[in-house]
Amino acid sequence: MKKLEDYVTSIPDFPEEGIIFRDVTTILEDPDGLSIAVDGIREMLKGVEYDSVVGPESRGFIFGVPVAYAEHKSFIPVRKKGKLPREVLSADYELEYGTATIEIHKDSIKPGQKVVIIDDLIATGGTIEAIIKLVEELGGEVVKICFIMELAGLNGRDKLAGYDVEAMITYEGK
Ligand code: PRP
Ligand code: MG
Repeated sequence: MKKLEDYVTSIPDFPEEGIIFRDVTTILEDPDGLSIAVDGIREMLKGVEYDSVVGPESRGFIFGVPVAYAEHKSFIPVRKKGKLPREVLSADYELEYGTATIEIHKDSIKPGQKVVIIDDLIATGGTIEAIIKLVEELGGEVVKICFIMELAGLNGRDKLAGYDVEAMITYEGK
């Protein structure tokens, strides 16, 4: 039986020289790859008590929604700036060059609501750090953070110290 790693395509020198891009689209393009990924995250969440899945646009939607649906939880989208129509809370985070902004609807999380965050990848950890800030500002509690892949060489976990963080695949490099 193939493992999840076997469905990830590694593309050298994309988007720039020296970077190995870990492409999840080949997980999605295979029905076995997709079920191994979604069921793997569901397995990580066994025994975890939570109300909602929070996932960032766009790759966090791909893996977050099927998990929420299968576990009969709600899904709360975090989107890039300017996309959400109602009142939002915003957070800035660092990119390699410059900063970006993500947003969440202010009324999407109630005080005491327990959430798990799901995304495809942790690299620097900046995206998830910003999401934690948004969830906590609204009074929510982050009970677990799940990734398909982790680039351990970028030390993103250092930004998430104190949280329960799990990745299905760990790549030692960047
Ligand atoms: C990628 C990836 C993670 C994030 C990880 O998303 O899907 O969300 O970067 O990087 P970090 O740990 O350094 O924050 P990206 O912002 O490229 O957008 P996308 O999901 O819409 O492709
Ligand atoms: Mg993303």
